[in-house]
Amino acid sequence: MKGILICGGSGTRLRPLTEKTHKSLLSIGGKPMVFYPLQILLKAGIKEIMLITGPEHSGAFMQYLGSGAKFGCSFTYRIQDEPKGIAQALGMAEAFADAGPICALLGDNIFEEDLSKHIHSWSGQGGHLFFKEVTEPERFGVATVEETKNQKRKTSNSAPVLSLEEKPAKPKSNLAVTGCYLYNSRCFEIIRNLKPSARGELEITDVSKKYLAWGELTATVLRKEWVDAGTHEALKRAEELVRR
Ligand code: G1P
Repeated sequence: MKGILICGGSGTRLRPLTEKTHKSLLSIGGKPMVFYPLQILLKAGIKEIMLITGPEHSGAFMQYLGSGAKFGCSFTYRIQDEPKGIAQALGMAEAFADAGPICALLGDNIFEEDLSKHIHSWSGQGGHLFFKEVTEPERFGVATVEETKNQKRKTSNSAPVLSLEEKPAKPKSNLAVTGCYLYNSRCFEIIRNLKPSARGELEITDVSKKYLAWGELTATVLRKEWVDAGTHEALKRAEELVRR
């Protein structure tokens, strides 16, 4: 399995911190944010990783990550000229994926739980997502799952997915779709056929929805904390999490 780190977005909600650098390079616990999703891939045993970012701060990513030798992996870089969505960025990794399954992680997502064991044990079939209960689901992709007996347990559990919606005005649940996507190679054929959403982007949620329609989407509901570090408040929380 290959790893893809997607560091998109212009970080408008983190201004002025993001005027001179990319949000995924901001320091959390003394390390650039992207270090943490990278760590998940490395712990899962993934050694070939593509980083995709816009042209603005690509040099700074290369300066920090280099060839990958210091992390025991190898990096390939691709530039997304315009911010046309996470799915468009992922589509740029098709040749790199070489017809195999991929694990795509967003560069601004911080997970308290060690996702590497889930990634490592994934079957490689269809798609697999990770959900987490949040207080403002309308800011994210939102999922509904079938109630299962072990729903109330404190440990993460797998749950059948019923629906997915990207940033719905009236969320059907408080389960957010986190920024870790496990897909087989069919994700690229899905992306080639996607149409841009109302915000003019190719939506990653539309990729997952296709797997759902095929009956090939599974998910894990996470119990530990998860932060999309896109705001000042979330950045502070991410800092607290990694220092635990
Ligand atoms: C993206 C996805 C959204 C997901 C979120 C996780 O949102 O579109 O479905 O819940 O990442 O961080 P964006 O960060 O592009 O607003």
